[in-house]
Amino acid sequence: MALKAMYEVPLSARVRKPALLHRLGLNDSGLEARLREGMDAAEQQLLAQTGSPPDARLAGLTGHLAVAGGKRLRPLLVLLGAEFGDPARPGVIRAAVVTELVHVSSLYHDDVMDDATSRHGVPSVNARWGARLAVLAGDLLLAKAARLAAELGEEAVALNAEVAGELVAGQLCELAGPGPGEDAIGHYFRVIAGKTAALIAVSLRIGAQQAGAPAPVVRALGEYGRELGLAFQMADDLLDLRAPSEQLGKEQGRDLAAGVASLPVLLALADHSPRGTALRELLAAGPAASPAEQRRALKLFRRSPAPAQAEAMMRERLDRARAPLADLPAVPALRALNALCDFVADQTG
Ligand code: IPE
Ligand code: IPE
Ligand code: MG
Ligand code: MG
Repeated sequence: MALKAMYEVPLSARVRKPALLHRLGLNDSGLEARLREGMDAAEQQLLAQTGSPPDARLAGLTGHLAVAGGKRLRPLLVLLGAEFGDPARPGVIRAAVVTELVHVSSLYHDDVMDDATSRHGVPSVNARWGARLAVLAGDLLLAKAARLAAELGEEAVALNAEVAGELVAGQLCELAGPGPGEDAIGHYFRVIAGKTAALIAVSLRIGAQQAGAPAPVVRALGEYGRELGLAFQMADDLLDLRAPSEQLGKEQGRDLAAGVASLPVLLALADHSPRGTALRELLAAGPAASPAEQRRALKLFRRSPAPAQAEAMMRERLDRARAPLADLPAVPALRALNALCDFVADQTG
């Protein structure tokens, strides 16, 4: 893209879906009002952070994905974690911004890795500005997260560093593939624990920690978050193959086309029927497969037992997520944590 065009990119319109908070149907006006206020404050700070690049001409680049959309799951988890302590403490909102900056940064990098062309219903950053600028802009957002975390104290700095490391390790592990003799499904869980579940768990922990919640509560929230995060990625991987592009805001079947060994794909490849054999042959071409072959692979996948198997495994993870909730005090936010499990399950239906 010409340099001039690159710098003159207007901020795209947001893809508007009902806010995640409203989709949870909490029926608790006090809690909802508190969460709404916190989410609005975090949103303002997030947009201020992402929209302030070192050079004003790059605001379109660094603000692109945050402006275009996103459910803001991680900030919501920070606020919910904070409900187990004093949610009015000053670090809570900032912690929410830290987690979303890390998330958005990971999307910049992830779309380069997956060679994705769209996200949130708009062109991906790499599609619009190229991979080099996308990687650098993602790094910049991560640096902004680290800078903000430094204002939240030593524990928050440690959590932020831990999660950044786990995220990258998960993505590296995905690229490297299973080790010698490693089971492919075991490898998948190692990947998603790093690239997705770690940040979801840390979002709950950092919120609770900033709000001064007791250590056993922070721990139980982390356990819940890890299992919820695994289920969340399992649902995302299933949706990638099941949902239409308009619903996803990104291309459908991207994982299959790119040869990503997601859980449903692995299960479909393990299918011993002739359909499984046909699918294995089609997928052997990997990203080189023609669009017609990719469509055929998607069709075969949908007719295989893999989607139902992957969904059952995802629901089993959600049961595991609910278990540590029994150890938590019965504050109103507990209902929201349960509702989030239902939200993840419903997404794939
Ligand atoms: C997308 O996460 C990447 C995964 C971990 C599956 P989200 O679904 O939370 O991303 P948003 O809502 O588009 O920001
Ligand atoms: C999640 O993996 C990526 C991150 C955690 C950054 P995916 O590759 O499945 O995410 P989507 O589907 O592109 O959102
Ligand atoms: Mg991706
Ligand atoms: Mg995906």
